[in-house]
Amino acid sequence: MIFMAILVTGGAGFIGSHTAVELLNSGKDIVIVDNFSNSKPKALEAIKKITGKDFKFYEINYLDREKLEKVFEENDIEAVLNFAGYKSVGESVRKPLEYYDNNISGCLVLLETMQKYGVKKFVFSSSATVYGEPERIPLTEDCKTGGTTNPYGTTKLEQILKDLYASDNSWDICILRYFNPVGAHESGLIGEEPQGIPNNLMPYVVRVASGELKELSVFGNDYDTPDGTGVRDYIHVVDLAKGHLAALNKLDKEGKGLYIYNLGTGTGYSVLDMVKSFEEITGNKVPYKITQRRPGDIATCYSDTKKAKEELGWEAEKGIKEMCEDSWNFIQKNK
Ligand code: WQD
Repeated sequence: MIFMAILVTGGAGFIGSHTAVELLNSGKDIVIVDNFSNSKPKALEAIKKITGKDFKFYEINYLDREKLEKVFEENDIEAVLNFAGYKSVGESVRKPLEYYDNNISGCLVLLETMQKYGVKKFVFSSSATVYGEPERIPLTEDCKTGGTTNPYGTTKLEQILKDLYASDNSWDICILRYFNPVGAHESGLIGEEPQGIPNNLMPYVVRVASGELKELSVFGNDYDTPDGTGVRDYIHVVDLAKGHLAALNKLDKEGKGLYIYNLGTGTGYSVLDMVKSFEEITGNKVPYKITQRRPGDIATCYSDTKKAKEELGWEAEKGIKEMCEDSWNFIQKNK
């Protein structure tokens, strides 16, 4: 018996693995594609252990059209969630061509292959970065986009999907604009394991707390924010994963459309808020020093969550306590 399956590209990665868990727990069948360029095989075993479920896996680069077509030939794919994009802002500045190739060319190969096999349900991982310097705060989905300040943000080329839908409205497309994903599954079996020195705040904070890194550099305290440090909308990765399920359900129920949603909590925390909360919640000190601003950073970014709540019936449930506890638990279990 062939079941309709959800294809999860980059399913061994940080967001992909957490979404794979929620899909399996909801009774969906999935197929994972990953080349481990920014993930580890152990994540696949962890997904099976957490859910008690199995799934098909193909170790391929989704840019390899011939191998990707084989996945569609061998499985009855009903929808695709794409998590195969690289996501480090700093790395994208150093390696723009790798980011444009993997994130944009890869997405094009994926969409062309979907079209060839008549699969037209697609959930796209976008980012709050597409808002550039925010037009207003909190950010609503109709705020202007563009003016991205780094190659990573520029690869979140939503226009490709808008043009595709305009050319053929039989596509069902959901664009999800992630704010700042943090945390890990409560089991501590999957989480964020960036290659090398972390670019993002939370992975860096937990490595300072564990003694792996000496101290946190706070990138500037002269922003127009309550304590001068950058304010962001941190969202627990499990809440983010559940947002993808809600998006798929929307496409299943209503479909035939192109939908755009912010996935955030609607609450902004400064860098120092996060450091202080992490110290209080985990009891670990996080030594830090104030340094220069990081080029491309903005002062404040957090979401208006109304549209996702009204149209997806989804809202983030986990707060800063779980974000800090689960991040710390993961690093402790994966030293
Ligand atoms: C958060 C705050 C920094 C590190 C980017 C992408 C976004 C998403 C998350 C993928 C800022 C400060 C950070 C450090 C610091 N990517 N900071 N010291 O830049 O808001 O968002 O990553 O999902 O799309 O744009 O996240 O975690 O790098 O920074 O002071 O060592 O922490 O200045 O204010 P960012 P971040």
